[in-house]
Amino acid sequence: MKTSTTKIDIQKASRSKIKNVDFNNLSFGQVFTDHMMVCDYKDGMWQTPTIKPYGPFELDPSAKVFHYGQAVFEGMKAFKDEKDQIWLFRPEKNFERINKSSERLAIPAFPRDYFFTAMEELLKLEREWIKKGFGNSLYVRPFVIATEAGVSAAPAKEYKFMIICSPAQAYYSGEVRVQISEKFSRAADGGVGFAKAAGNYAAQFYPTNLAKDEGFQQIVWTDASTHEYLEEAGTMNVFFRVGDKLLTAPTNDRILNGVTRDSVISLAKEYNIDLEIRRVSVKEIIEAAKSGELKEMFGSGTATVINPISGFGYAGEKYELPKLEDSYARFFKDKLTKIQYNQAEDKFGWRYLV
Ligand code: COI
Repeated sequence: MKTSTTKIDIQKASRSKIKNVDFNNLSFGQVFTDHMMVCDYKDGMWQTPTIKPYGPFELDPSAKVFHYGQAVFEGMKAFKDEKDQIWLFRPEKNFERINKSSERLAIPAFPRDYFFTAMEELLKLEREWIKKGFGNSLYVRPFVIATEAGVSAAPAKEYKFMIICSPAQAYYSGEVRVQISEKFSRAADGGVGFAKAAGNYAAQFYPTNLAKDEGFQQIVWTDASTHEYLEEAGTMNVFFRVGDKLLTAPTNDRILNGVTRDSVISLAKEYNIDLEIRRVSVKEIIEAAKSGELKEMFGSGTATVINPISGFGYAGEKYELPKLEDSYARFFKDKLTKIQYNQAEDKFGWRYLV
């Protein structure tokens, strides 16, 4: 049984916006629920978490988040099963990772009990926003920003930890095409690539826009020093199927340790799929694409779940991938979502009942 001594201050919204929402036509991250969680850090400690009506708030124009980018975030999903129970998927991993990201950006760690108690209270308030059925979920976005006023380049002494929620369906509308990066980098050794730092995403926008102009939705980033090895795709980790072998890059300080990536790896082991976690070179993938050995590529991430990649571009050439009956992407998506929606046994203990 869960017990908590954390006090949460709850101010309910006077009316709900839910009736105005078309749950069958959601664009990712555009609609937000009625409430949000806010917890301020000041005088060296996190104050009482508050759940209040969702809405804008004021910050001093000199707040450090605007100038030095002290901001980290997480992405999680809540699912509703046929008995109206609400489940989170591996939230412990997100809790650990947000504090790991915070540490790298000199942001104070957020207490475990605050995180879980506040999130559960928020999800209970917003339970009508979580719709049943595969593909429906509530995307939960915890984040921390530096709110202290003043433009001296030093870690802030004041922060806001917040959680907002958005009803979600698919992130991409279908398969995506990716461009393998030849020149731009997402992260470098010793940097913040492993952290879910807001700036990691901002740095991708310009090169991704260039790739979009050429017909790709995403970039697969290569290592910053040689651009010879494939790393991740910014909104997803990436898997390659060469023959029947599944390949993915090892995590390091440039690559985000994705919760969905980790779950795919566990499922591959469970179902005896030949898996190698090792550096994957661009050369190897191009050769495998040319010889027909490259059967599949897919991305994994909380927002995207498992997203098939239909083709890729590199050095001005375009490569198409075959359409498979026995796709690994489909297999993992099926296994994963059945666990998430409480429709399959949870051997790994991944589900968390709210
Ligand atoms: C997630 O999958 O939760 C992410 O954080 C990716 C984000 C860019 C939507």
